[in-house]
Amino acid sequence: MKNIVVFASGSGSNFQSILDAVQSGRLNARVAALITDRGDIGSIDRAQRAGIPVHILNPVSFKSKDAYSEALLSTLQELRTDLIVLAGYLRLVPATVIQAYEGVILNIHPSLLPRYGGKGYYGSRVHKAVIDAGDPVSGCTIHVVTEEYDEGPVIAQAEVQVLPDDTPETLAARILKEEHRLYPETINTYLQKLN
Ligand code: GRF
Repeated sequence: MKNIVVFASGSGSNFQSILDAVQSGRLNARVAALITDRGDIGSIDRAQRAGIPVHILNPVSFKSKDAYSEALLSTLQELRTDLIVLAGYLRLVPATVIQAYEGVILNIHPSLLPRYGGKGYYGSRVHKAVIDAGDPVSGCTIHVVTEEYDEGPVIAQAEVQVLPDDTPETLAARILKEEHRLYPETINTYLQKLN
């Protein structure tokens, strides 16, 4: 059984969809832990309800960037991490971690990358940009994390129509629904391909 470690900074609805998929057997893996950068978020409640260990690692509480990266790396090693899943994680993953876990870090982004990715495109800003541009479709993308923000190889996408009366909130909600379907399914397929 492969070990997944989820990184999240927010409410964690994607994290929940992963927990639910494991619980129902649609995702053949074990969620070894939640790693987060803050102590007051919905993701932690979700982890606690599911009996999943939580590690709060906030870079500002370490004396240097290197000390933070080392703590992250040793936590991941202790957890025998096979796959890191970013689910609304709002910090850059340190380069040393990306190098140590090359090809086994996934992220989900709420647009059809390469459109609306990169610096500044997060949360409702993504959906506002899509609506302002008049795009007829948006969606979500799952990609492998590389050192280039939002630029790693795309492994799955789902399209969602943009409706004429959409607001960033209504569009975000429809895309999130697709995220909850696509992420566990894609993680499961990706894990099967890892040896
Ligand atoms: C999702 O829209 C995801 O695409 C993005 O961050 C959001 C996280 O939402 N990376 P949640 O915390 O999983 O509800």
